[in-house]
Amino acid sequence: MKKLFAIIMALAALQATAKTDEAKMNRFIDNLMSKMTVQEKIGQLNLPVSGEIVTGQAKSSDVATKIKNGQVGGLFNLKGVDKIREVQKIAVEQSRLHIPLIFGMDVIHGYETVFPIPFALSMSWDMDAIRNSARIAAVESTADGISWTFSPMVDICRDSRWGRMAEGAGEDPYLGSQIAKAMVEGYQGNDLTANNTMLACVKHFALYGGAEAGRDYNTVDMSHTRMFNEYFPPYKAASDAGAGSFMTSFNTVDYIPATGNKWLMTTVLRDMWGFKGFVVTDYTAISEMIAHGMGDLQTVSALALNAGTDMDMVADGFVGTIEKSLSEGKVTMATIDQACRRILEAKYKLGLFDDPYRYLDSKRVTKEIYTAEHRAAARKLATETFVLLENRDNLLPLKKQGKIALVGPLADTRTNMPGTWSVAAASDKYKSVREAMTDALKGKAEVLYAKGSNICYDETLELNSTMFGREMRDKRDAKVMRDEAVAIAKQADVIVACMGEPSEMTGESSSRTNLEILDAQKDLLEALKATGKPIVLLNFSGRTTVMNWEKENFGTILNVWFGGSEAGDAICDVVFGDVAPSGRLSASMPKSVGQIPIYYNHLNTGRPCNKWFQKFTSNYLDVDNAPLYPFGYGKSYTTFAYGAPAISSTSMTEDGSINVSVKVSNTGNYDGAEVVQLYIRDLVGSISRPVKELKDFKRIFLKKGESQVVNFTITADKLKFYNNELQYICEPGDFEVMVGPNSQEVQTLTFSLK
Ligand code: BGC
Repeated sequence: MKKLFAIIMALAALQATAKTDEAKMNRFIDNLMSKMTVQEKIGQLNLPVSGEIVTGQAKSSDVATKIKNGQVGGLFNLKGVDKIREVQKIAVEQSRLHIPLIFGMDVIHGYETVFPIPFALSMSWDMDAIRNSARIAAVESTADGISWTFSPMVDICRDSRWGRMAEGAGEDPYLGSQIAKAMVEGYQGNDLTANNTMLACVKHFALYGGAEAGRDYNTVDMSHTRMFNEYFPPYKAASDAGAGSFMTSFNTVDYIPATGNKWLMTTVLRDMWGFKGFVVTDYTAISEMIAHGMGDLQTVSALALNAGTDMDMVADGFVGTIEKSLSEGKVTMATIDQACRRILEAKYKLGLFDDPYRYLDSKRVTKEIYTAEHRAAARKLATETFVLLENRDNLLPLKKQGKIALVGPLADTRTNMPGTWSVAAASDKYKSVREAMTDALKGKAEVLYAKGSNICYDETLELNSTMFGREMRDKRDAKVMRDEAVAIAKQADVIVACMGEPSEMTGESSSRTNLEILDAQKDLLEALKATGKPIVLLNFSGRTTVMNWEKENFGTILNVWFGGSEAGDAICDVVFGDVAPSGRLSASMPKSVGQIPIYYNHLNTGRPCNKWFQKFTSNYLDVDNAPLYPFGYGKSYTTFAYGAPAISSTSMTEDGSINVSVKVSNTGNYDGAEVVQLYIRDLVGSISRPVKELKDFKRIFLKKGESQVVNFTITADKLKFYNNELQYICEPGDFEVMVGPNSQEVQTLTFSLK
């Protein structure tokens, strides 16, 4: 009792401090704003791109004049403490009110220590490690002058034609929400004013992953019920976790571009969810509303501001037109003040008014970036993201002996390791797979290498998929390259083939319509197969691809996505068995592009297909409905056995709970991690409910021979959904609860909510 009282008193004291802090902040900002001109207020709403600011010349840059005139609130993608200090000095020393700038960057999966791409991170289902990856990213970015990151990207995606699947956490709202929360916590820590925490920016609000036909920037149209139940949860989770800023998305929502959508930016984000931070647009999203057919620059800028968008990234719409709109009564001073206040508050919370140079300590640059400790964390986490799709002959793990033929267009490339959106990567410091393997096998086994093929035969496609030729295309004849690979394969005991997409074949503006293996690589794999040597296929990709042919022809497939700066070593850790793979798919892998959008948590239809093919049921003539590999799937070197699950009661009330437990045993020959998954189905509802939904999971580590009883608690929270009136409720009735290693192999129990 005494302890409880002490806790309550401590919480009350904390709350009181927060209130005084807020009152102090409000007084400070009131005072500052009372001195600001309209132009200066609008200036705070302006976020131009840093352009080519060269160290030592910042003062003479174009943007410097604007900063002096108080026309800039912040800058982004400017790298390096010296450059940033020069620019900050201009704002602080030469602008009339000395308001510091905020410096942002797309630090979306690590800084110079690069973690696996976000899509890969989500395969780890390891929230502590993901939170820590964001923590490390914040330490490194702030050591280099950046205090605002355009991350986490939490767009749900069920369509792998969309290249930006690489940047998100896959198809599931529950997993996506856990990750969104972990990342915000990692970036922002407990104290935003600390010089090693940074402001998160949740993007892209909203629904960007629903782009029609997977074509980037395309139209999105969906019911509110689907938005709230399936696409909004990760944004809300990030807002609930206290994210300091949100970024608008490029797409339309209900036929109004998100950036100018008041229902989205004000009704949902602020009124319903209580978001208190500021909203920045995506790159030129304001001026893009002209092409969306919403009016001229002045009209769309006013539309954005009135909708609740506070900061204009690059479009020059706010600085260019808002003053005019004010004089014409199209926006009010109160609206401008509100946006300006939100941005000043963020700067205040980051501690920039106390010390505008607090993120500019050159000593930190050498001590805190790309450290041994950070690299070790990235390497370990990368091993957790690889998904072992097949290991039919137990070829993996390989022994460190004999001769290994390492082949493929992705076997000896450093620039393709970190993955898309690695803006602070130093690829020359990272190892290619070839370099890592040579290190790993030194004195034990021999690595023979041949590239074997280019990415694909089509030179233009390769150019467009590699940031316009970042990686040199091999000019040799395709057959010559292939023959060289076959020749070394014949001398080797085993082939390790590094195939798939180059890293920029996913990411922004990298949509594809064909997701099967690329032609030149297919020919190479066929030639390698003809040698009769055992083959380990390492598949690189930033999305789920169509791998029927690979599954049919190759018994050993490890999907390695893009594993970050330490990917080479991490791949070797798994291939040679120092660590057993434990990644689990965060998106269903389709059997055909024609099945897309494909996701496990779908509705049932009135004519569900129980056995393919059946006329007049919901199926295709040429392929069944199941994915090639289901959501949650992934193998290990060891095996896990599930006992029969137990349920503490078969009925519960809304304020009660039920415990579900299952014994999981490591029955194989390796130590390894397993992700135990819990799904729920609401059998009858006032709206049609999905066939199953992930509601909990536990990642556990078991030594060989070990067992553990895994417990899950079901509360009403796990049964709630948004009904057609958008009320968040649970409805009495019968439910199924399913436990298993993936969304397909589950054991089912039932209970009812009274
Ligand atoms: C992307 C955003 C990114 C922004 C700034 C845009 O093109 O859509 O995700 O944060 O650029 O670099």
